Amino acid sequence: MIPILIDCDPGIDDAVALMLAASAPDRFRLLGVSTVFGNVGAAQTADNARRVLAFCGQSTVPVAKGCERPLLRPVRDAAFIHGTSGLGSALLPEPDGALDRRHGVDLILDEIVRSADPVTLVTLGPLTNVALAIVKEPAVMARLQRIVIMGGAVRELGNMPSTAGFNLYADPHAAEIVFRSGLPLVQMTIDATHHVRASRDHLAALRTVGNRHAELAASLFDDFATDGAPEPDSPVNGCMHDPCCIAYLLDPTIARGREAYVQVETASEVSMGRSVIDWWGRSGQPANAFVINAIDGDAFFALLRRQLAKLPA
Ligand code: BDR
Ligand code: CA
Repeated sequence: MIPILIDCDPGIDDAVALMLAASAPDRFRLLGVSTVFGNVGAAQTADNARRVLAFCGQSTVPVAKGCERPLLRPVRDAAFIHGTSGLGSALLPEPDGALDRRHGVDLILDEIVRSADPVTLVTLGPLTNVALAIVKEPAVMARLQRIVIMGGAVRELGNMPSTAGFNLYADPHAAEIVFRSGLPLVQMTIDATHHVRASRDHLAALRTVGNRHAELAASLFDDFATDGAPEPDSPVNGCMHDPCCIAYLLDPTIARGREAYVQVETASEVSMGRSVIDWWGRSGQPANAFVINAIDGDAFFALLRRQLAKLPA
């Protein structure tokens, strides 16, 4: 049983990640969800997280709204991919219960203190809440088992103008605080998540699960089915980036990676937010993250189908 916290910005792929987490009450104790600006604004991401959790029968999980803007840079969203609601054209019912009254940063810190066992923090959006939690209470954050971060790239060109991946680009200074924190980190890069492309065949197979959860997951990706993507490495939108972090916790054997020293570019506008990864260990710096650069896409989709089938009707 892994106690987990999820910090996210739903987001169509964040929504599938939340569903995947909710499908495994035998493996995860989901202590809470904090949200952050990112794909859309912070109020909207909090509302979306509550709707998705309620849809999965998890409305008792506390959801707290976190930071509304990056530490230094202007807000950049990804509504051009996720739609202005953040969940494409999906319409989910109004959830029961209220938004947690705490700030997202405080939810993270409180739940770490409350947990008898070390908590795994999964981050699926910009790292602003996590950086502030580290700055506010480093000793509390030091109790974490580890942080599993979706963000950055080893070799891929990134999916933002600067060559960075969205989550690190959206708040590079926060990301740099996290990578310098000395906490145990796992970095799920887009090199890995680009192996997890939702083709029409994968979406059709997902629909054979036959419940409303699988239908929602498939419909969130319908507009982005990756068949016919122009080049194998192009930054297609139909990748299940965020669910890869949850899938990795459920079955680490689907992923490959190595320990490496990672820094985040915060000075050059040309490569702002790029994760600079010393893959060959030439810097002489000790590794600060386990960097995942490959995932078995077919194994991922098989896991997703098995798990979503477990969600209660
Ligand atoms: C990341 O960017 C966001 O748009 C997705 O939700 C994911 O977290 C992928 O680069
Ligand atoms: Ca996300």
